[in-house]
Amino acid sequence: MHQSRKITDDVYYVGGSDRRISRFENVFPVPDGIAYNSYLVLDEKTVLLDTVDLSVSRVFLENIEHLLNGRKLDYVIINHMECDHSCTLEELVLRYPDIQFIGNAKTFTFMKQFFKFPVDGHTIEVKEGSTLTTGKHTFSFHMAPMVHWPEVMMTYDTTEKIMFTSDAFGTFGALNGNIFVDELEDRILLLPEARRYYTNIVGKYGAQVQAVLKKIAPLDIRYICALHGPVWNNQEDIAWILDKYNKWSSYTPETEDIVIFYGSIYGNTENAVNVLSVKLAQLGVKNIKMYDVAETDISYLIAEAFRAKVLVFASSSYNAGVFDKMEYLLLDLKAHNIQNRSVMLIENGSWAPSAAKAMNEIISGMKNINLLNHNLSIKSQLNPEQEEQIDATAQVLKQALQTS
Ligand SMILES: Cc1cc2nc3c(=O)[nH]c(=O)nc-3n(C[C@H](O)[C@H](O)[C@H](O)COP(=O)(O)O)c2cc1C
Ligand SMILES: [Fe+2]
Ligand SMILES: [Fe+2]
Repeated sequence: MHQSRKITDDVYYVGGSDRRISRFENVFPVPDGIAYNSYLVLDEKTVLLDTVDLSVSRVFLENIEHLLNGRKLDYVIINHMECDHSCTLEELVLRYPDIQFIGNAKTFTFMKQFFKFPVDGHTIEVKEGSTLTTGKHTFSFHMAPMVHWPEVMMTYDTTEKIMFTSDAFGTFGALNGNIFVDELEDRILLLPEARRYYTNIVGKYGAQVQAVLKKIAPLDIRYICALHGPVWNNQEDIAWILDKYNKWSSYTPETEDIVIFYGSIYGNTENAVNVLSVKLAQLGVKNIKMYDVAETDISYLIAEAFRAKVLVFASSSYNAGVFDKMEYLLLDLKAHNIQNRSVMLIENGSWAPSAAKAMNEIISGMKNINLLNHNLSIKSQLNPEQEEQIDATAQVLKQALQTS
């Protein structure tokens, strides 16, 4: 049985959701699963926009067959050649051998690398600003290099005002019948997984995302159809998610909050930041978040660092360096190009505390970090005589939160 849904008069959702997968890209935990979206346009010509992961290929093929109702598939627009959207191409080619692939030069290079089926003779190469008319619909193509991969492009349906955005504007999480954002109780429910998805997968390429956002800004976009997550189908929600993307991709803190990341072997460092959090709360600081870096998956930590304005990294010393999970977090944040944050370092060590220096070495390679005074070096456990120091630390953090 097909499971497709109508988006506009002749545009249909034909993707599917995988709730069995534990880690997307074999890396990111997806406790709520993931959706692989694909869209079919039934015009004078039939057009498919991207395909799906093999895990949902059966429902996808059934959806297409049902909607085509005996017609042939004329075109497949390939906005992204990554396997989660292209694996099913091979099966599609077997079923619809006359199909024409629409992509850019890089798309076809990748296609030939990934697949053995004949690509030459089946291609229509497009460039920035190229258009394709399929009857009622005219599509324009907009290159979006590194908005995940180098071949990525976005396709705009000028007729129905739909922007097919590739991975951009996607979220983790399966779709459960409701494919539109306004079929959910509140768009805010999508935010943590949209943020975790963006920051971990595309976060590194903020400059490229900014360039694409500027490029598509003049277009009248009524729908955003991404390759994961729900369809953004009303103006208010679209403006809201565009604003989030603008913040994330410019590395602007999204909220005026503090997040404390700690790495602690026996709990003494953890205890110190618990004391600090209470001091902060007493100073009126709200919405404090704390994470044990050895406990919480790093993808959630990356997302939280992109969200907040002030970041505290507190860690045990470890073999003349820093606790390894903390080192991994900092290196990953650096790899994701995190910028424009106020940062406080706290260390603990029993014989030669080395954590602050090791953390600072990584952080000094990040752009535009306001390193707050770190005078809090703990010897094994917080000493009652250090209370004044903890109070001062809390004051410095509060000030950093209030500084624009
Ligand atoms: C494997 C290991 C390596 C350590 N290396 C150092 C070190 O190089 N320098 C140091 O001062 N303390 C070192 N320590 C001691 C811890 O940093 C210290 O006891 C810890 O910070 C106490 O805080 P915690 O309870 O939060 O882990 C090490 C501890 C362990 C278990
Ligand atoms: Fe991708
Ligand atoms: Fe994807």
